[in-house]
Amino acid sequence: MQADGSIAAGLGGYSINLGQFSAAAVDRAGHLTSGLPLASFAGKGVLARQVHALVRRLAGHGLLEYRLCSPRDEQDLVVIEPQVAEYWPQRAKLGSGDTIVLSRFAYLRRRDSEMVLESPRAGALFRIFDPAIAATLAALSRPQKISELRRHAASANLDLLGLLLDSKMLIRLNAKDGDGLRVNEGDGNLVLWDFHDLVFHTRSTEGRHTNPVGGAFTHAGVVPPLPAVRPPWPGKKIDLGKFSTSGSVSHFAKLLRERHSIRDFDDQHPVTLAELAQFLDTTARVLSEWKIGADFDGGPEVTYSARPYPSAGGAYELELYLAVLNCGELARGLYHYDAGSHALVAIDTSAQQLQALSTAAEFAMDASGPPQVLITIAARFGRISWKYSSIAYSLILKDVGNLIQTFYLTATDMGLGGCAIGTCNIDLFAKMTGLEFHVEGPVGQFALGRGRKPAPSS
Ligand SMILES: Cc1cc2nc3c(=O)[nH]c(=O)nc-3n(C[C@H](O)[C@H](O)[C@H](O)COP(=O)(O)O)c2cc1C
Repeated sequence: MQADGSIAAGLGGYSINLGQFSAAAVDRAGHLTSGLPLASFAGKGVLARQVHALVRRLAGHGLLEYRLCSPRDEQDLVVIEPQVAEYWPQRAKLGSGDTIVLSRFAYLRRRDSEMVLESPRAGALFRIFDPAIAATLAALSRPQKISELRRHAASANLDLLGLLLDSKMLIRLNAKDGDGLRVNEGDGNLVLWDFHDLVFHTRSTEGRHTNPVGGAFTHAGVVPPLPAVRPPWPGKKIDLGKFSTSGSVSHFAKLLRERHSIRDFDDQHPVTLAELAQFLDTTARVLSEWKIGADFDGGPEVTYSARPYPSAGGAYELELYLAVLNCGELARGLYHYDAGSHALVAIDTSAQQLQALSTAAEFAMDASGPPQVLITIAARFGRISWKYSSIAYSLILKDVGNLIQTFYLTATDMGLGGCAIGTCNIDLFAKMTGLEFHVEGPVGQFALGRGRKPAPSS
């Protein structure tokens, strides 16, 4: 807090400017380190509005936690830790006649020395400090009428239950929901998700959690790095070198040797639309389509397609979204590749979102500039989980691997270059496309372009 009323938040060497405020608001903001009741800035006065604006800005950067404490002794009962930037605590209204149950995606676990309630659907996690609340959560593995629940569990605080319901840790049941353990949770697209798959998807991408992502070397001080090549088994060695053919090396073998990642691109000579068309035609185009009758008694007819790369179960659940940043005749923007008709379809997105996508890729590659085309590989999750239980998400990631190698080899063959990117922000993609994160979302990225020629050595 500066004397001129400006406030900035500093964390891990970064500083975030939060704006200019009156002396009274700066004074009030000082209380945020120990806690400021939400009600204290809910009013319409100038001071309340200023504090509200500041707090919203802090929340937007994920810098606030929300404490729920015991009115008796001020001890923390629960602390809410936001996982998405938009999270703001809201209490869903609950009446004593309502019936609620724990979401099948919610789970309690130990994190360091705390018990946390998490869910891939929730925008926040709840740190549980009172064991009685954990007991109430356990009771909520079966549908409970609020009036009944409160009779048996004093800790069933309506404020907390309302917060849990709002964040989708709990679901409210209607009379027609039968035993209440329905798998759709009010959203038909969730039927197709196994618990572990949705947790894996949201925790191994960016956008819906606040854990470290990527090369953070978290275990560097604890465990030495493993060697690049596995130490050999002690058994008898059969030297394969003497069996290798000495004849000419095939074009394909050369391509495999030549392939390497290219992270810096020649901005003066961007990839052309014709090259992009050829790249997509070679790697991802639908080659044929057909239908197959029921796989099992009473099952429906299923449509299939053939494409240049292999795909688990022939599902071809992967879709390509191209962020075009610098490509000859093609306007900057986001496009979907319609693999069936070999066409690009423009998607309306904001320039800032496109920039955020490009900057994240540049950062992930430690590159000197943006890629010319950034391909986001998204999955239509239901296409594969409709058939496969337990292995659906892992099959998707294996398919991504196939496609990425196909991209690398095709780019090399065409004299272009590219680089796989291990992270992607599922929240940003959802905002850019309007697609819900559990319906169709990113599972891989590939930066494509014409590689920059190395500077001639003097
Ligand atoms: C799944 C996958 C994810 C990758 N993620 C990144 C990444 O985020 N940033 C990056 O600079 N390189 C990334 N790479 C590229 C690897 O660093 C690169 O393939 C590896 O160092 C071998 O080098 P080469 O591709 O030039 O042979 C990724 C590669 C793969 C296959």
